[in-house]
Amino acid sequence: MRSINAVGIVGGGFMGSGIAESCARAEVPVIIYEPEAAPLERSRARLEESLGRAVSRGRLSAEEREATLERISFSTDLDRFSGVDGVIEAVTEDVTVKGKLFQALDRLLDDAVFLASNTSSIPIAQIGSWTQRPERVLGLHFFSPVPVMSLVEIVVGYRTDPDVVSDAEAFARQIGKFTVRTKDRSGFIVNFLLVPYLMSGIRMFQDGFASREDIDEAMVRGCGHPMGPLTLADFIGLDVLYAIGDALFEEFKAPEYAPPPLLKRMVVSGAHGRKTGKGFYDYA
Ligand SMILES: NC(=O)c1ccc[n+]([C@@H]2O[C@H](COP(=O)([O-])OP(=O)(O)OC[C@H]3O[C@@H](n4cnc5c(N)ncnc54)[C@H](O)[C@@H]3O)[C@@H](O)[C@H]2O)c1
Repeated sequence: MRSINAVGIVGGGFMGSGIAESCARAEVPVIIYEPEAAPLERSRARLEESLGRAVSRGRLSAEEREATLERISFSTDLDRFSGVDGVIEAVTEDVTVKGKLFQALDRLLDDAVFLASNTSSIPIAQIGSWTQRPERVLGLHFFSPVPVMSLVEIVVGYRTDPDVVSDAEAFARQIGKFTVRTKDRSGFIVNFLLVPYLMSGIRMFQDGFASREDIDEAMVRGCGHPMGPLTLADFIGLDVLYAIGDALFEEFKAPEYAPPPLLKRMVVSGAHGRKTGKGFYDYA
């Protein structure tokens, strides 16, 4: 078992910043890489704000906030990763971007225990094929917001080495996460089960079966869900949900994954849910 003493995070967006926060709060030093300075500045601001919120809620002391921030460094130079024990990639969901990065990481990091991707839809086998050592490539699929959500799906690729799986799993637990193992299939465990349910809720609303409020209240009060399917879809982002449904449909060709026509019309009209102020509900 190899221990993970420092981690490189590729991409300081929404997920990358959250993953960095979880690592640093568990006393693991991290370096966040982005090719441009501006997104790194946004990442720093996002981290300062998130840790500030944890202090104001009494979950972290002011000293712990400072110590956590000191464990996070930012760089536009990928060479700064030399010496890290593992990498978690969380860049834009684009095969060309991820492909170039994994080739570069593979060349740079002879000794890293794992090269992980947070991808939601690109096969881990494909990501592994961009490297010379696919046996150390796997998926670590975090949930948003990362500092709050405890789950990490450990995605075992076609050629991932079982020792790499165990080491990455131990690392995820070291940073306070609960892990589940899944094969490298579109949707992994959570989205494979969640997406058909959300698509059914949208189809129900689209077909006038019930009002949006009644669909949501029924699942909150009848099943004890914290929120109904349409509220949850707005929260995830309708563009993101559409892309995940499309990827699942592409993989399994099963109608329950296919995005309903209404969802497509909403996405192309810019109604992407909470983040755009308009989805199944208005958030103006
Ligand atoms: N948002 C979610 O809820 C969620 C959940 C699980 C997994 N994911 C996955 O996480 C990944 C990132 O998603 P996100 O929501 O954080 O996106 P995001 O747009 O917030 O962040 C992506 C970041 O990647 C950076 N980037 C682009 N090209 C780069 C490069 N060549 N090198 C380094 N950085 C680069 C961008 O500047 C941006 O800061 C995606 O693969 C997505 O599928 C997202």
